[in-house]
Amino acid sequence: MSDFKNIFITGANRGIGIELVKESLSKNFSVIGTFRNKQKSEDLLNINTKQLKVFEMNVINETSIIRVSNNIKSSLDYLICNAGINNGFGNLFDNDHSHKKMLDVLNVNVIGCILTIKHLSKHLNANAKVILISSVLGAQEHNGSNATIYRASKAAVNNIMVSISEEFRDKKITVASFHPGWVRTDMGGSNATMSSKESAVALIKSFESLKFNNTGKFFNYDGTLMNF
Ligand SMILES: NC(=O)c1ccc[n+]([C@@H]2O[C@H](COP(=O)([O-])OP(=O)(O)OC[C@H]3O[C@@H](n4cnc5c(N)ncnc54)[C@H](OP(=O)(O)O)[C@@H]3O)[C@@H](O)[C@H]2O)c1
Repeated sequence: MSDFKNIFITGANRGIGIELVKESLSKNFSVIGTFRNKQKSEDLLNINTKQLKVFEMNVINETSIIRVSNNIKSSLDYLICNAGINNGFGNLFDNDHSHKKMLDVLNVNVIGCILTIKHLSKHLNANAKVILISSVLGAQEHNGSNATIYRASKAAVNNIMVSISEEFRDKKITVASFHPGWVRTDMGGSNATMSSKESAVALIKSFESLKFNNTGKFFNYDGTLMNF
């Protein structure tokens, strides 16, 4: 396997996303990273290497995705849908579950992945891998009453992952979702068990090991199979 791979990462400006960028660069990958807000993207914009190209892209703004897609010259070996939001870990009766906030979560986490894959797929190499960053919170069997809409959004991510894997089966493109671990980011909080670097190192290693017979499956960051 050639080391010179092209990887596209959404939500690349902070958290797990920026560590995926750094780990990919350390492996000599060419990286395309997207950010949504310049003001929050200083760390990404300060990475100075020809191997990294950055684009402004909002995963719920179809025009911005199409614009980025039209500006990409290289074909992609990896497409990573990492961008995501959780408007809080409250329960049904919490403000986190206002109609507007719930629509935001579904919009970014689910529709954002679909739009990103839909418009970037024309750049995918034969044998490319499409990864959706999901969560163990999306599992159907659980006993939590919190984060209701976030759980539902990640269950939906795993579901669309299966549909998209079938869409690309004939092209031998592998599509899988991954739980990144419980990670110390703005979303994961300071009590989480893994650093974003530890998560990213494990994730990239697992993405590299992924084979076509893994298409349509959900994995932990270390490459072990997870239940939906
Ligand atoms: N941290 C954990 O413990 C954990 C556990 C399970 C799953 N995950 C998943 O892992 C992924 C990364 O999470 P994280 O912990 O790194 O979160 P984070 O630190 O909150 O970062 C989220 C990233 O997504 C971007 N984003 C949000 N909405 C976007 C939009 N509409 N368009 C483009 N980018 C957008 C953010 O950009 P801005 O800077 O512009 O907001 C940011 O780059 C998410 O899908 C999350 O659900 C995380």
